[in-house]
Amino acid sequence: MTDKTGSKTLINTGSLPEAGLGKKTEEIKFRHSHVNGIVFLPYMTEQRIHDLTNFQTRSEDVFIVSYPKSGTTWLAQILREIAKPTMPEGMDEQQVIGGTVPFFESVHPTVLDTYPSPRYMCTHLPYSMMPHNSKKKLKYIFIARNPRDVAASFFHWMRVLDKLEWDGSWDEFIGYFLKGNVPYGSYFDHILGWWNHQDDENLIFLKYEDMKKDLLGHVKKIAEFIEVPISQEEAQRVTQACSFSSMKADPKTNYDRYRDKIYKKDSTFSFMRKGVVGDWKNYFSDEQLAEFNKLYASRLEGTGIDFEFIG
Ligand code: PPS
Repeated sequence: MTDKTGSKTLINTGSLPEAGLGKKTEEIKFRHSHVNGIVFLPYMTEQRIHDLTNFQTRSEDVFIVSYPKSGTTWLAQILREIAKPTMPEGMDEQQVIGGTVPFFESVHPTVLDTYPSPRYMCTHLPYSMMPHNSKKKLKYIFIARNPRDVAASFFHWMRVLDKLEWDGSWDEFIGYFLKGNVPYGSYFDHILGWWNHQDDENLIFLKYEDMKKDLLGHVKKIAEFIEVPISQEEAQRVTQACSFSSMKADPKTNYDRYRDKIYKKDSTFSFMRKGVVGDWKNYFSDEQLAEFNKLYASRLEGTGIDFEFIG
């Protein structure tokens, strides 16, 4: 599909952020929508969530699941390198958000239906909004990242997204984040919803910080989980291809191809921003950290979830 300028257009199924969708309110000053009490990106509607929840899954499907800014794109690239998924006939990678590993919420179900099995998809949806069919043992790879770094990364992401029409301060942002007033809602609700299923045999729960420490080990673990045999040599190749520096340098993985469609005009933002553990230190004031720690303890203490905050 080409547009008037001759460049490839994304298959816009009405789900890409469009100008003017959603609303700003006194309480939340970026464009957003609400579905079932959860804040979403402006394009999200009840109908769309209904369609996603009722999406026809296949037993071979593999979902990468994460709260935003937790390492979704990293995992997608690992899956691409291990499993080498392909596009439906007649479509190319440029046309669908995520290409061979499409982003579930942004690609219409009828397009996803045309993907060959096994399908590998990414989503940020809470557990309760996912399609669940007990007869179909599809797989979930959940990636969690410590919420302080998620917040730092999310702040920059929200400021660059054109359709949110927001360029607020960190102080404003952290207020939203702690109240769960950011797209996809509360970090804590999201992670707990999935953590409750961490013992399910069709789910593995990974952490960004662990992947930073041992990427090779994770590449092997992921290959085993999706049942793709991998040699030591191949695992090493995948590890190299999925390092932060490789992904940042590669136009296929650094998201630059979406720049004109998604980012504010003339933005110099790089999706592969820092890729480290501990960047939060550059943002949180002592007061904000104290408030964050209180919330963290009240929601996660005793659940078994823990994070390293320093790289
Ligand atoms: S999104 O928009 O929600 O899908 O973002 P997501 O891909 O989940 O997270 C983006 C952050 O992941 C970092 N990233 C990586 N870190 C380490 N190694 C690799 N290979 C890698 N690839 C992506 C990316 O830089 C974002 O984090 P920040 O802290 O902003 O740099």
